[in-house]
Amino acid sequence: MISKSTIEQVFETARVEEVIGDFVNLKKSGSNFKGLSPFSDERSPSFMVSPVKQIWKDFSSGKGGNAVTFLMEHEHFTYPEAIKYLARKYNIEIEETEQTNEQKEEANERESLYLVNEFANEYFQRILHKTDQGKAIGLSYFKERGFTNDTIKEFNLGYSLDEWQAFTDEALKKGYLLDYLEKTGLTIVKEDKQFDRFKGRVMFPIHSMSGRILGFGGRILKVDKKAAKYVNSPESEVYHKSKILYGLFHAKQAIAKEDNCYLVEGYTDVIQFHQTGIKNVVASSGTALTPEQIRLINRLTKNITVLFDGDAAGIRASIRGIDLILEQGMNVKVVMFPSGEDPDSFARQNTLSELSSYLEENSKDFIQFKAALLVEDANNDPIKKAETIREIVNSISKIPDPIKREIYIQECSRIMDISEEVLFSTLAQINKKEQQESNKNYKSEQKAFNVIKHEQPTRKVDYQYELERKIIEILLLYGNETENFEDLVLKEDETTGDLNLEPVIHQAKVFEKIYLDLQEDEMQFSDTNFKTLYYSIIDTLHQADNFQLKDFIGKLNQDMANEVTTILMNDERYRLHDWQRNHIIPKEKKETISQLVTQTILSLRCFLIDQKVSEYQNETSQPEVNTLPIMEDIRDYLKLKTLLSKKLGKVVGG
Ligand code: CTP
Ligand code: MN
Repeated sequence: MISKSTIEQVFETARVEEVIGDFVNLKKSGSNFKGLSPFSDERSPSFMVSPVKQIWKDFSSGKGGNAVTFLMEHEHFTYPEAIKYLARKYNIEIEETEQTNEQKEEANERESLYLVNEFANEYFQRILHKTDQGKAIGLSYFKERGFTNDTIKEFNLGYSLDEWQAFTDEALKKGYLLDYLEKTGLTIVKEDKQFDRFKGRVMFPIHSMSGRILGFGGRILKVDKKAAKYVNSPESEVYHKSKILYGLFHAKQAIAKEDNCYLVEGYTDVIQFHQTGIKNVVASSGTALTPEQIRLINRLTKNITVLFDGDAAGIRASIRGIDLILEQGMNVKVVMFPSGEDPDSFARQNTLSELSSYLEENSKDFIQFKAALLVEDANNDPIKKAETIREIVNSISKIPDPIKREIYIQECSRIMDISEEVLFSTLAQINKKEQQESNKNYKSEQKAFNVIKHEQPTRKVDYQYELERKIIEILLLYGNETENFEDLVLKEDETTGDLNLEPVIHQAKVFEKIYLDLQEDEMQFSDTNFKTLYYSIIDTLHQADNFQLKDFIGKLNQDMANEVTTILMNDERYRLHDWQRNHIIPKEKKETISQLVTQTILSLRCFLIDQKVSEYQNETSQPEVNTLPIMEDIRDYLKLKTLLSKKLGKVVGG
């Protein structure tokens, strides 16, 4: 664990504009910076960074947050990875909190394995580029496959000498312990002898999502019937085959940006695609896709396109695995390559535009593809046809979204020439069976899904929404400041007996004033996000004397952080789109904070009263309602409204 003080120091030191400036070309624009969104393709900039507020907002994707959330979004770092990245950038020493001896040992061991892998990575590249054997055998092999120098360097490709222990000797000489060499699998230890696992192979290092070396794949160059074409690192503390996708490190940004991920089988498919110019591609490395691997992609996009080699043999076996992708609610497409071609060979023979249009023209929705394939298989055999129905409906049943399921049933009915009723009743049977078998989790998940779907709030940009937003903005920016508030109270004129509004000055913190005023009216926020934010801001302000906007944002979940940045960058948005020329003119913030607070709250109260009054008026128009008590309520509200309007007039005018 990274210590709290390190995290605090990182937050204190990191400047959002400097951090983002490493990834996005930022130009000064007023007190802000602006640039092209790194999350979408756009030609006019809608990405804003505020050095004052230390936040960023991407108006094209709606994302926003602080320096740390930027790294998490853009680099797909985990929180600790982002903190570590910033610590390195700003030369902050990372202090780890006390761990148990066991934890320490484990972390040390993992770290040692990484170091050994990183050494090996450098070593194999050096051998490839700098030695005669490396150049003559390894490098010329890669060149023959059509890989350019840039590609070879980008993917850190290497070569392992065709000698029994050249690597092991070098590593031991450099002080790496045999124990770690064995645990990473780079060295095979047999009795008192040691061998290089990857002897005489070209090397494909496998990177973690953040670019560390987890392990290697090594391809043999000789034709040897007995030896495996590829040898991979064995499972270790750092290499878990089922949780790794080859190429993810190089593809993650393109996947998020293109909002699609191509899935291929092999190392060379990934590299060749990348070189041709399609970078959103990863490989399962020849094994069936696992749920963990799918989850890695799911973090970046909901869309996956599975690419199949031209030889049809493998397809029927591999489509079963695709149900796992459907289960995670992802959209799956498939592309078949011409007979005899795999993604590697096809990409090599075609230009980027040819490859792109091939992929576009040949990508088929997975369920439709499968249905067509099954129809072909069943081929008038009635028994087989029954099996087929069950199989396609099985796939459909994995899709979490009921609307999508229904559309697919209709589609398949058409493709397979089977009535929708039969398909629906098969679906019902499968669902029933599954519900009986599976735990309640499944059901409650389904339910939760439905609830979310229906309760999706539709946000109207209305007056109330704007005022609520304003209140949150004020709290975020000035919540902790002490101000003089002028309250107007009703006083009786001693001589005439008239009621007059008279000013009384009292000092309060902005957030206290807002909290008390809203409480007085028992006012609730209508926007659910604002409501959540409101209470967490008030809570934080109550607890801490020194409220730091960036700390506060840092502690929010991504959704809320987005909401906060939207609120705080609201003015910038208007400026961005030059809305002044149209109709929305953001108020110049000339008034004092206390005026701003009072004015906003009063406006909201007036608005709510208007709303109440018109509600009541609606009621009185119903024929069977006793209108008298309602009329009285209306009268009370209107009185209050007059009073509030007077106050408001004073604030605005004076
Ligand atoms: N694979 C493996 N071990 C093997 C064979 C294959 O780990 N003995 C994995 C590798 O990740 C390989 C992928 O499965 O990239 C696909 O295998 P294959 O299609 O046989 O290899 P290609 O990637 O096409 O390699 P090449 O073009 O060099 O033959
Ligand atoms: Mn191949």
